[in-house]
Amino acid sequence: MLPSKDYQSKILVIGATGNVGKELVQQLIGRKLRTRILVRDPAKMPLNSDGLLETVIGDLDNVETLAGAMNGIEKMFLITGNTQQDKNVLQIGKTSGLQHIVKLSTQESGWTPVKGHGLWHHEREELIKESGIAWTFLRPCMFMNTAISWAPMIKEKGVVRYPGGAGKIAPIDPWDVAAVAATALSSRGHEGMGYELTGPELSSIRDMTQIISKVIGKQVSYVEESDTDFINDLLQARLPKYVADGLVATFGFVRAGDFAHTTNAVESVTGSKPRTFEHWCLENKAAFE
Ligand SMILES: NC(=O)c1ccc[n+]([C@@H]2O[C@H](COP(=O)([O-])OP(=O)(O)OC[C@H]3O[C@@H](n4cnc5c(N)ncnc54)[C@H](OP(=O)(O)O)[C@@H]3O)[C@@H](O)[C@H]2O)c1
Repeated sequence: MLPSKDYQSKILVIGATGNVGKELVQQLIGRKLRTRILVRDPAKMPLNSDGLLETVIGDLDNVETLAGAMNGIEKMFLITGNTQQDKNVLQIGKTSGLQHIVKLSTQESGWTPVKGHGLWHHEREELIKESGIAWTFLRPCMFMNTAISWAPMIKEKGVVRYPGGAGKIAPIDPWDVAAVAATALSSRGHEGMGYELTGPELSSIRDMTQIISKVIGKQVSYVEESDTDFINDLLQARLPKYVADGLVATFGFVRAGDFAHTTNAVESVTGSKPRTFEHWCLENKAAFE
């Protein structure tokens, strides 16, 4: 399905059904910006909102569908699952008039040296830089909604079994990542910028467990999970082995203190302080009860 000629959006959102993308679409529409989204599954199309949303069926793995989806697009929010998908987007973008890519990357991608998952994203960032298309890289810390995966064990056993130990991180609400993306897509001055995005406070997984416990009014304890058990859980959840290995490595960096810092990037870009984990828990309380 191609957008009609007289109704072309200039902004395309990839990953519009994902954690960040679904928040981003709402925020762009809230700013009255015509927005096109690419979805793989027609059943996942959101309802049109104020006539500002166009939906195109497509797939990052299928260059032909990308050509249609990117027709007339100047700015794009991009999340990809592998480097070939970035190559597919760039193949079209170099001749389609695409002017700016706002790419969802990861925190470690901007570090020296680049570590863990950051290596995959860094490779894709470099390809985008070489393309000549303007870019903004969003490099967030762990999303707060990772905690949703803890809900079954909290409900059944009153426990969070997860790696991390005493290591501190600064988890971020995907809503804040989306707010930075919406600003970068709708105002000038973000080209060539890599933003390391964190939440407002440092917490260990134990600290996060205590906050959930306080919000739901139920005792929840934290048990540090071994790497072996963690990897088995991830494989059982059908994550590819290389992704599971990458996550185990990440929690090694967490224990080593590599993630124990906050940045002011969310506030400096959006003008608003990032949301706290307690705020996120209050909004998502029902998931744990
Ligand atoms: N989770 C974290 O804590 C964290 C922290 C830092 C960085 N990140 C980065 O954030 C990214 C994930 O973002 P997210 O959590 O917002 O996404 P997500 O919830 O995992 O959703 C993935 C999105 O991509 C779409 N998608 C997948 N394959 C596609 C394809 N072949 N063609 C078109 N669309 C496709 C999915 O659509 P469908 O609905 O069709 O599946 C969905 O909308 C990753 O790059 C990750 O490294 C995550």
